[in-house]
Amino acid sequence: MKRRDFLKSCSLAAAGSALLSPTSSAAGLFAFPSSPDDAPLKGLDLKIRSLEAETTRPVTVIVIGCGNRGNVYARYAKMFPKAMKVVGVSDILDHRKNRLGDAHDVAPEMRFGHFREVFASGKKLADVVVISTPDDRHYEPCMKALDLGYDVLLEKPVAQTEKECKAIRDKALKTGRIVGVCHVLRYSPYFLALRAAVRSGMIGDVVSIQHMEPIQYAHMAHSYVRGNWRNSKETTPIILAKSCHDLDILRWIIDKPCKSISADGYLSFFKAENAPEGAPAYCTDGCPHADRCPYNCIDIYCRQKVHLGVFDLNGNRDSAFILSRLKDPRYSSYARCVFHCDNDQPDHYVANMVFEDHVTASFTMDAFAPKGGRRTRIMGTLGYIEGDMKEFRVWDFLTRTPKVWNEKVAEIPEYAGSGHGGGDLRLLRDFLEAVSAQDVSRLSSNIDVSIESHVMGFAAERSRRSGRKEKVK
Ligand SMILES: NC(=O)c1ccc[n+]([C@@H]2O[C@H](COP(=O)([O-])OP(=O)(O)OC[C@H]3O[C@@H](n4cnc5c(N)ncnc54)[C@H](O)[C@@H]3O)[C@@H](O)[C@H]2O)c1
Repeated sequence: MKRRDFLKSCSLAAAGSALLSPTSSAAGLFAFPSSPDDAPLKGLDLKIRSLEAETTRPVTVIVIGCGNRGNVYARYAKMFPKAMKVVGVSDILDHRKNRLGDAHDVAPEMRFGHFREVFASGKKLADVVVISTPDDRHYEPCMKALDLGYDVLLEKPVAQTEKECKAIRDKALKTGRIVGVCHVLRYSPYFLALRAAVRSGMIGDVVSIQHMEPIQYAHMAHSYVRGNWRNSKETTPIILAKSCHDLDILRWIIDKPCKSISADGYLSFFKAENAPEGAPAYCTDGCPHADRCPYNCIDIYCRQKVHLGVFDLNGNRDSAFILSRLKDPRYSSYARCVFHCDNDQPDHYVANMVFEDHVTASFTMDAFAPKGGRRTRIMGTLGYIEGDMKEFRVWDFLTRTPKVWNEKVAEIPEYAGSGHGGGDLRLLRDFLEAVSAQDVSRLSSNIDVSIESHVMGFAAERSRRSGRKEKVK
């Protein structure tokens, strides 16, 4: 898009939003309108169990990487101290290490800086390490932890290359240790029910799936233009960094190996040639387009107050304080103009997959959406399913009566605040039970299965770059 077009389209968008009624955005997700008379979906036998893990004693954990995800997982120990205890922390940033260390009364000698310090003694200091460092710092600590006999909860993406992913898989199988990969969607009640509906045979055999991942526009700007995952070489390509969950879910629901994949994806918008005239390098330098730019960092962080976790605010959400953070060199990368960043991740991506028995799936990821959340349509020989991560409806072609699954997971007290539709903490529950019983089957997927969907992601990226359909091996 040319610079003049961007300015014009911003003005039109502002005018257009004034015309929309408050309810109009809710319409149109489902091909068939819902009705309060929709019958509930029964017969899946999926009771939503307590999140408290059944363990013989608290599983001891060292959290490596005390940022956003490290804190998400550590929170479980506060909720269920009989099941998990944080006994060690590691972060190169002292304030993050000590904030989490203080919250869990971690002894001074168990507070480490760089992850290498955790392993320096050559001894195993806990049952488990949680690896929630940036993507380029998963491989080394994971391999070291497995050598020392730890079970590992490993954030996705597993590693930056296919070779490293497979090396982690081989090491885990050789050492017999458990590696739980944080494919958290698998653990959310919604996706568990969706898969159970498919597996029950109620829509016959799956023939094809359409799956869509809209990324909310400010989330895109925050994470994949300005933030930690903006550069595919420093982290991983967006099809893995963002969408390895989706490839994993498709593989899991179809339950057959993926044979080939072809993909396209482009960075069309967030690049210098689209910068409006006179836009400074930082929004905080007085951009003349601030009022018309939806990506203006002052609006996103100081007014909407979203995505604030990166600013180490310690509870102070005052707009003036957030603005001071945006001007602080430690955090000012989040103040950069979205057209003047060192980003290379595509802002739209499509992938077509062929699974065994000619089952097909099409996936789209788009950065220009008002809200996130996955949408899925599953076409079977006897019926059809459509869902939006909160509820799904099943149509039986014979009865022609829709049935709805819409458990209000967020209203269950234990699940409130558990991200990814409850998947974050349910993953922990299953992982801790697997470790306590030394039984990997308690996990939805072992490392070898998790690697399969990563291999699909690497193949998609090869296809996107080469323009050729790639075999998945
Ligand atoms: N499962 C999911 O849905 C999900 C969601 C978001 C992020 N992630 C993944 O989780 C990982 C962490 O993401 P995040 O959002 O928590 O990032 P973050 O930046 O908030 O946290 C990472 C932390 O690691 C620390 N760190 C960096 N190098 C280190 C080192 N050598 N030793 C010890 N600590 C070090 C950083 O200082 C930081 O505090 C990433 O790989 C990301 O892709 C997964």
